[in-house]
Amino acid sequence: MAKHKWEAEVTAALGTVWRRREFWKQLVVISDPVLLQEVFALEREGAIEKPDSLISWDETKDKNVLTSKTADPMWKLVRKGTAPAFQPNNMRQYHHHIVDIIERLIQGIKQKGSAPVIDVADIAQRESFDTIGKIGFGRDFAASRDIDNTVNNTFRLLTNDFEESMRRAVFPLRRYSRSQDKLAADANHRRVRAVIEALVKDCQNRPPSNEDAGSIAGHLLRLRDARGKPLTTERLIEEFEIFFIAGSETTGHTIAWTLYFLATHPKAMARLEAELDAAGLLKTAANPQPRTVTYADISKLHFLDCAVKEAMRLQPVAAQPLRRVTTRDIRLSSGHLIPAGVFVELAQYSVMRSKAWGWEEGDAFKPERWEEPDVEYFEHSRGSGGRANNTTEDDLEINGSKARDGKVKRYNPFGQGVRNCLGQQLARMNVPTAVAMFVSEFEFTVAPEDAQKSIDELEVLKGTLQPKSGIHMICKQR
Ligand code: HEM
Repeated sequence: MAKHKWEAEVTAALGTVWRRREFWKQLVVISDPVLLQEVFALEREGAIEKPDSLISWDETKDKNVLTSKTADPMWKLVRKGTAPAFQPNNMRQYHHHIVDIIERLIQGIKQKGSAPVIDVADIAQRESFDTIGKIGFGRDFAASRDIDNTVNNTFRLLTNDFEESMRRAVFPLRRYSRSQDKLAADANHRRVRAVIEALVKDCQNRPPSNEDAGSIAGHLLRLRDARGKPLTTERLIEEFEIFFIAGSETTGHTIAWTLYFLATHPKAMARLEAELDAAGLLKTAANPQPRTVTYADISKLHFLDCAVKEAMRLQPVAAQPLRRVTTRDIRLSSGHLIPAGVFVELAQYSVMRSKAWGWEEGDAFKPERWEEPDVEYFEHSRGSGGRANNTTEDDLEINGSKARDGKVKRYNPFGQGVRNCLGQQLARMNVPTAVAMFVSEFEFTVAPEDAQKSIDELEVLKGTLQPKSGIHMICKQR
């Protein structure tokens, strides 16, 4: 059984705070939204930190914005310095690149006939990879240009590299292994470094342009530390790579899961089609050339938003509990004491499904649940999964804002607190644009080879929660 499902089952049996061992490490698993909010709030003051085992592939101690400790001034520098790259104005400026990339993919699918069987998970990875390449680093990696090309795909190298680094986070001694697959992973890593290093050099040497100024690369290259020094090339390579990985894998899998749920829930798909049609975005006999999805459309397509949120609740790509280590003893409002040096697993997967936190039919895809107000909140004053509930409003302060009206977040696919997802605005623009554009052109039906598989058979948790061997669908041209 996959780890996220196993942890949800143990939580149902043992309660929302329990201990386990992983080799020599002591781990506390928490899946109570009130306690999660408390713990994430402690991250701001350094009471919990990113564990060392996450850090650095080759022990050069070069970290990146995802793996650095919150207390590390470099983390703050990079986080603050790159955040403007994801501001709405910037996103609006770059939206047309996403449209161009998806149009390329649509043409590629159409070339295969009127109703070909396509691995939509692969298509979605190509989309998100080219998007981050173009918007983040001003480079067309052309994964969307030829959908049959499986050789020379930088994105495959990167995902392999990411999977290996997740393996090392769990098995730190693996870096000393001489096994065949580990040596292959090392070779893969060297190729990734070479590609990223070339990209860094290219970005450094290109003449300045407006296009580059707002990109992730542009922001990283302009960063200066307290002594006025730019980031070292080693650090830039680390940062480029992590933005690439964090930005593409996650977004691509989210697009794939959303299309899968829509294809398997005809009523929801019909509602989305009606919404797109009303907006002039659906290809029909009456509208054979629908207009292109714009940035402004995204906030107006409410049912699409509901469908994406519901897919991210059920199949959050970050289904693996977020891991931290305590730097001092912490006492939770539930009375639990977690000593310094203990690993804490912040397990949001079960929180986003469990009846204990108010999700009715929590395992079902019901986008309409998001039509109610405040769905992402749980009213903790009504009791919480059977544990002692003496949390005060002060305990719940997070990101400068208190929990709303005694409500606490029970939906956090982008993480929580000061280390939440830096690139979520890009994902929030990319995922709905992709889903709207693909649905506008094709009717999706899961192909026989995948139609009989349960979600347990379709998914695998490999760093992210992703399709195990793709998701094959008949893409019938409208
Ligand atoms: C659907 C898409 C995405 C999901 C579900 C997602 C999810 C997450 C989550 C859960 C975290 C927190 C990890 C932790 O607390 O340990 C995170 C962090 C991060 N994400 Fe995303 N992410 C997505 C897309 C993106 C994109 C598009 C980018 C950038 C291009 C990005 C860049 C980052 C970075 C840099 C961090 C580290 C932030 C920090 O530690 O300060 N993510 N993401």
